[in-house]
Parts: sequence; C-alpha cells; structure tokens
Amino acid sequence: MTDANEGSDVSRRDYIKAAGAGTIGVTGLAGCMGGGGEGDSTTTTDSGSETTTESSDGGDTTTEDSSSNYNTLEVQHWWTGGDGAAAVEALFEGFKQKHPDIKVNQNPVPGGAGQNLKTVIKKRVLNKNPPSSWQAWPGAHLQPFVDANKLKDIGDSVWGTNDMKSAYKQGPKDVAKPGGKFVTVPINIHRLNNLFYNKKVVESAGVDPSSISKPSDLVSAMKKVENKTDAVGMAHQTKSAWSTSQLWAQVLLGEYGRETYVAFTEGKVEANKKAIKDSLSIVKEYKQYFNDDAGSISWTEANKKVINGEAAFFHQGDWAAGMYRGQDGFEFEKDWGQVPFPGTDGIYALNMDSFPFPKNNPSPKATEKFLQYCGSVEAQERFNPKKGSIPPRTDVPKDKFGPFLSRQMDDFANSESQVKSIQHGLAIPPEAKSNFGDAMSTFTSGWNVDKTYKQLTQAFN
Ligand code: GAL
Repeated sequence: MTDANEGSDVSRRDYIKAAGAGTIGVTGLAGCMGGGGEGDSTTTTDSGSETTTESSDGGDTTTEDSSSNYNTLEVQHWWTGGDGAAAVEALFEGFKQKHPDIKVNQNPVPGGAGQNLKTVIKKRVLNKNPPSSWQAWPGAHLQPFVDANKLKDIGDSVWGTNDMKSAYKQGPKDVAKPGGKFVTVPINIHRLNNLFYNKKVVESAGVDPSSISKPSDLVSAMKKVENKTDAVGMAHQTKSAWSTSQLWAQVLLGEYGRETYVAFTEGKVEANKKAIKDSLSIVKEYKQYFNDDAGSISWTEANKKVINGEAAFFHQGDWAAGMYRGQDGFEFEKDWGQVPFPGTDGIYALNMDSFPFPKNNPSPKATEKFLQYCGSVEAQERFNPKKGSIPPRTDVPKDKFGPFLSRQMDDFANSESQVKSIQHGLAIPPEAKSNFGDAMSTFTSGWNVDKTYKQLTQAFN
C-alpha cells in the first residue's frame, strides 16, 4: 500500500491558480451562474458520436448515437493510495466484468477530502465539459449544481432499477435528492465520530479508551500516554484544515451534545458562544499532543503513525479503517481498536460519497449503466469493505464486512440519532461551508480561539 499520491497534496491556492479560477468563481456554482445562469442561450455541440443540445432552460438533451458503441466513461475521484484506491479498484473490476464493452477512464485528482478535485469539477461543469461522473458528497453540497441546472433527474433511469428506492435507507435517499429530484447515487456511509487507537500503546500507558467519557477528558489520557510511552498522544494532520474541522465538530458534539451541534448547523453561533469557544479551546489543548510534523503530512501519513505505534489515538472518518484493513498483520481488536468519539455514544455522525449524473454528459448511456451499478448490492459489497464504510442499501449481506464494519452496521442500525457532517457540506449550505472552512484555516494557522470564533459568527451571514 502506498500513499504517495494522497500525500502529494497541492495547496488550495496553487490549485485554484492551476485550474484557471481567475476567470471563474469557485466558491459555489450558484453565485457564478448568476440569476438566469446559462439559460440565456441555446448551444449545440457535436462531440463525436453524440449531440448535446443545451436548451433555453439550461437543461440538455444529450443523446448518444444509437449506432455507436458506448462512449468512454470518465470518472473522477480522489481515492488514491491508502485513501480508498483498493476500494475503487474493486468497484471498477466488478463494473468491467458486467460491462466489458464500456471503456473506463479513471481520472483521479489526489488530495484528501477533495481539496483539489472540487475545484477541477466546478471548472469543468461550468465549461460544459464535465466528466461522466465524479465523487461528490451528496446533500447540500450538490445544491449549487442543482440550482445551476447542471444535474440530470435520474429518478427513473437509475433509481427506478435494482429496487433502489425500496432498498436504500431514508437518509441516503433524502441526500440523493437535493432540490427534490434524484440526481446522484450514494455508494457508502462513512462514520465520522470515531476515535481510533493503537491497542498496544494505550495498554502500555494504562489507558482504557472506552472509559474516556467526554472530549475534554481525552487530554489527560493523552498526557498519560506521553508520560508513559514513546508515542505521541494523537496522530493528526494540519497541512489542510479539513481534519481539524472534523475533529472540532466531534468535540462540539461530544462535549455539548446533539442539540448544540445542530444549532450550530442552523447558524446559531452567538447563542452557543460558550460551547463553540470551549470546543475550540479543547482542540487547541489536543494540539500539544499532536505529532511534530502535523503541518507537513497527509491524513494517510498521520494514520501510519497509529499503525507503527508512534501515536496512541487518531480521529478520522472510518476510511482510516479501510487503510488498516489493507495493512497485513494489523488486526482489529488485537492491534487497533475504535470507540465512538468520547461523549458521542449512540450517535452516528454521517458522511457519504456519491456519483452524480451531470447534464452535457460525455457518455450518457455508459454513465447510466455505471450509476445503476453503483446502486446495486454487488457494487456496494465490493466497494465498502475495502473503503471502511457501510452500504446505504439495507440488503447487502454482512459476511464480507469483517468484525469492525459489522459492528459499525449495528451501531448505525441502533443509533439514536444520525447527525450530518459539517465539514462535508451535508449539514450546512455551501456558502456557509466555505466560510466555515476559511475560519478553520485561520484556526490551524494561528490557533487563535477568539479570532476563529469571530470568523465563525460571520460564516452564516
Ligand atoms: C472524505 C470522503 C472519504 C475519504 C476522505 C479522505 O471526504 O468522503 O471517502 O476519501 O474524504 O479523503
């Protein structure tokens, strides 16, 4: 397993420059499209064997010449190296077996949490040159694409097949319909409120992770680890702010509860001043127990420190467990363990990945087949065990998932509440999400609680 690709993060500024963002806004499609968006013109482009007509309402009537073979399916994602490469390979292997006639061009853009891919996609969609599909968080994150009329209604063509409408759980079905119509296919459910740990390290420090009842108590547990072992308290990356945004959200959830977390997503920042500032301060305390190179590594490199025994704890989505699964001799419950992030027992904080169907599609027939496949039992059974996620369908057999993911499935089924991710834009509107990201970048560059809080008070305006 290598994480060379994932590790080669490009800074956001460099990427925006490279993607030519000087001419196109990148913080949200809606703003860039302006009121009527592209609806003012009618364009017809001949792209090989198909004709795309963009009609005056911004919709399109893309058709593939019936005499041609399927056009090449181009799918973009950020799953490279330890961050999901094995899972996406397994997915395409199954797809190719089923549709040997369809050529596939995986065109990944590495960078954890889509830090680079998102800019590329916005540019391509706005230029009417989208890939066939791409890895996208569903829900509010896709709203600007819906508002700009860039996604196709696949309620019948895709969701009408494979019993998808009855097999999917309600939550994943809802986020597949930002704006009311099915436009994307969720392929997984990731849990965010995890605290992973290296079992030998915590045992030699005499720390029992399941006894840590709230986020603030994790501080003394990490102190104990550093006093009693050579390991650092917590593996973490701060090269890009997203991991700290996620960590802060779990601290808020665990220390102050679901209602406060939800209130934040509703923009009630000042009403929750104490909780928000205090949870930022707790993360700042965690910082003294981070690895020294946190500012220059990727999340997969941070996770290796847990695998190597150089760190005790690690907060990440359960994609981290996908990496453990690919690591020979690193076994669940013998070498590593997981507890819900302190204070969040009974809660499943959700993130999902999905594949949308863009208008102006370069390969509509092949894309339809691919999305139908992603919605099938077979695809979800291939992809999720390797990814460290659970399927959004309710009828995928458990046997290939192993003990950890089977337990996550049970936790999901028994959870009292499922909160949506802030960092992944499932819970907050894109504009607020972008401002939130900026505030968290301020936080990870200066660790100034007051300044970050002030920026957060403006995030929802
Ligand atoms: C998330 C994504 C996961 C995983 C992670 C790290 O946003 O949903 O599938 O790839 O980023 O890059």
